Amino acid sequence: MSLQAQIEALRIELSAAIENATDTRAMDEIRISALGKKSPISALLSTLGKMPPEERSYNGALINALRDDIAAKIVDKIAALKSAALEARLKAETLDITLPLQPAPTARGRIHPISQTIDEITAIFSDMGFSIAEGPDIETDYYNFTALNFPEGHPAREMHDTFFMKPGPDGVKKVLRTHTSPVQIRVMQKTDAKPAASYLTPPMDPPIRVVMPGRTYRNDSDQTHTPMFHQVEGLVIDKSSHIGQLRWVLEEFLKAFFEVPNVTLRFRPSFFPFTEPSMEVDVQCDRSGSEVKIGEGKDWLEILGCGMVHPNVIANAGLDPDVYQGFAWGIGIDRIAMLKYGMPDLRAFFDADQRWIAHYGFRPLDLPTLFGGLSS
Ligand code: DAH
Repeated sequence: MSLQAQIEALRIELSAAIENATDTRAMDEIRISALGKKSPISALLSTLGKMPPEERSYNGALINALRDDIAAKIVDKIAALKSAALEARLKAETLDITLPLQPAPTARGRIHPISQTIDEITAIFSDMGFSIAEGPDIETDYYNFTALNFPEGHPAREMHDTFFMKPGPDGVKKVLRTHTSPVQIRVMQKTDAKPAASYLTPPMDPPIRVVMPGRTYRNDSDQTHTPMFHQVEGLVIDKSSHIGQLRWVLEEFLKAFFEVPNVTLRFRPSFFPFTEPSMEVDVQCDRSGSEVKIGEGKDWLEILGCGMVHPNVIANAGLDPDVYQGFAWGIGIDRIAMLKYGMPDLRAFFDADQRWIAHYGFRPLDLPTLFGGLSS
């Protein structure tokens, strides 16, 4: 075979080997075997010495051209393999540093069932023309008991499991209010412009129609009692308010609250120092299933206390009991929330467990209204 043919055969063979190499290690081997001392190109170069000088420079140029050509192809191929390897590594080692999008706070947040229930109660009574008032949680012994016609030293004061507080520097005895009834006094006293009036919105002269929701405290804890709980107080004072109106207001409220077409109420005689007569009210219900159903069935459930406001209470609040009379009631908010929404344990209300609130809570923008539906 002529030298030229040998050179071309080598060029084809080595170029193919370079072309087919798949990694840089294989390329190292090809480089050594193609250009090293024992390579066919070196072998060809070593034949130059025996050639006549006129052939030597011509053939030498051909062989060196082959060597340069193969060397260049090796360099290019190694560079191509290296950049392909880098690209593959970059692809394999990609990290996704983006986070899944969180729903907006208005979609995630939940309204506590107590807040929802208070909103529902105030929506119902606002619709009936009632105002809303509030009083302080830390109450004087006078407002919590004395003004409400609890005689000094009367056992009813102890029945309330009262948290008594140390008197302040002024010597005034204070308690954590055991019920929302003291707000009745503050509402009626509004006309006297006593300091307590600052808690009240709006100013109230008779006729008074007001509901007073808020926190209340008693030293008691089990499945249906917590040391802090909630009540809503109702008060109507006018010149001719009577028990028939009380019954109507309570029936309308309970129908609207439990979202049922009918409720049947049972009034039992009872005792509260601040009402005369005093009554406890049971609502007809069905306890045969796993949930209590209001407005049907054969059972009765005690749901609230009420009565005609005692003349002493009206007088203690600075109104003339010979001119004004009225009725009042008090309902445990937590209790009716448990009944309506089927929550078995009151203590869970105050555990701040996010799973509980996610399950029992309400969407923040679904405000309860009578026309839009209270709880839907
Ligand atoms: N304050 C009473 C309680 O906590 C509830 C109550 C009963 C309120 C009769 C009233 C009422 O306004 O008239 O047990």
